[in-house]
Amino acid sequence: MLVGTGRMKLNASLKAIEIIGGKKNSVIGIGTGSTVNVFLEKMGEIKPDFFKDNLFVASSIATELELKKQGATILSLSTIDQVEYYIDGADAIDREKNMIKGGGAALFREKLLATSTKNLIIIVDETKIVDKILSMPIPVEVDALAIGIVIRKMKDNGLLPKIRGIEKGKWGPVVSDNGRIIVDVKVKDHVSDLVELERKIKMIPGVIETGLFIGLSPTVIVGGMEEAYIL
Ligand code: A5P
Repeated sequence: MLVGTGRMKLNASLKAIEIIGGKKNSVIGIGTGSTVNVFLEKMGEIKPDFFKDNLFVASSIATELELKKQGATILSLSTIDQVEYYIDGADAIDREKNMIKGGGAALFREKLLATSTKNLIIIVDETKIVDKILSMPIPVEVDALAIGIVIRKMKDNGLLPKIRGIEKGKWGPVVSDNGRIIVDVKVKDHVSDLVELERKIKMIPGVIETGLFIGLSPTVIVGGMEEAYIL
């Protein structure tokens, strides 16, 4: 029996399958993380034709491998300019639907897909809803060559950057699928203008992308213990 967030992720996934499971002839983007994996696994059980009837683009190598298990046809991100649907999880989301993403280091490809989809669907368990979006650090993808300069400039701007380290399997920093370093950036002072904060971070040469996802108006499916609901 599933308990805790496992059950919430399942409820969110089942609701998303209800919404998107009947789609045909579409290019569909798939994000990264444990919630997305539950969605893919359940879709394979309930509506296996979903993977034959559509083409897919993934936000990470990990998700490409999950899609391959389902027999899906996967397109390279460089070959598409838009997707019909993009479904992904999030690390935190507030009531205005601002999100922090990048806990799985896939934020660059995720931002490309989330900003180029006609329909953005976010699936989260209830624990991801926060009052203050900046209570958690913003993951930022940084070119390795620029890491020292970027860290110094972030500190000069009053930010608290920390290079994400790996727990086991490798010494040193987490390297993204794109060969770049992930820096988790804590914002210490109160910030009300997220657009300006995003602009300030992205203006630093060497910063590729941030995990602050704002102004995207996603359909957010929240999984609770009993059922899922739309935020
Ligand atoms: C990946 O880089 C993240 O943006 C994920 O979308 C996020 O970490 C959600 O993961 P879980 O579904 O495992 O919580």
